[in-house]
Amino acid sequence: MTIRPARDCDAPGLPGIERSSGEIFRQSPGLEWIADDTVQSEEQHRALIATGVAFVADLPGHGIAAFLNGEVMPDALHIWQIAVHRDRQGRGIGRKLIEAAEQFAADHEIPALTLTTFRDVPWNEPYYQRLGFVTLERGDLGSRLRAVLDAEEQAGMPAARRCAMRKPLHQGHGLMAAVTV
Ligand SMILES: CC(C)(COP(=O)(O)OP(=O)(O)OC[C@H]1O[C@@H](n2cnc3c(N)ncnc32)[C@H](O)[C@@H]1OP(=O)(O)O)[C@@H](O)C(=O)NCCC(=O)NCCS
Repeated sequence: MTIRPARDCDAPGLPGIERSSGEIFRQSPGLEWIADDTVQSEEQHRALIATGVAFVADLPGHGIAAFLNGEVMPDALHIWQIAVHRDRQGRGIGRKLIEAAEQFAADHEIPALTLTTFRDVPWNEPYYQRLGFVTLERGDLGSRLRAVLDAEEQAGMPAARRCAMRKPLHQGHGLMAAVTV
């Protein structure tokens, strides 16, 4: 499997990957509707590929199985969406995509990753906690993440079940340079 930057020609296939990924929510009490919810459009993918940060997981002989996209904000690389085709979930592809985002952030001296997700869904908040993300309490959100959660609520998301998370990244380059010298 190759994790590589997404290309414009990948965009048409990505909404279908997200629709497939959402099937897992049919087993989540109260959130079954997510499986039929709107997904990012091809145009939104094209825009994030052109001006944001976008990676795909390309499986030899199968094509694209997953994507991650986001945008560089003043305080973090904010992940807007990560989705793995239902048939390929649970094999570490999501973890590899997060690692790619982390590497991108480290290479660009971006101090953190952020995202919003569902609380208490096994493949959301607890999963990201295992990957080093910390759930932010309301008072720690800052105006940017508060606005993201507010917009989600306006769009019909159940606010009580949503949270924002942050993974601080250690900027080790200076230390490595010192050791190398
Ligand atoms: C979240 C998602 C991107 C993770 O990608 P993935 O390739 O399946 O991730 P990984 O294989 O790296 O790990 C899956 C994790 O979810 C957990 N998980 C997955 N399905 C689960 C289930 N049905 N019950 C319990 N845990 C589950 C696994 O235990 C695993 O965690 P671990 O590696 O710490 O044990 C993918 O599951 C997905 O596309 N989900 C639907 C869309 C979604 O929720 N996107 C995120 C929006 S914030």
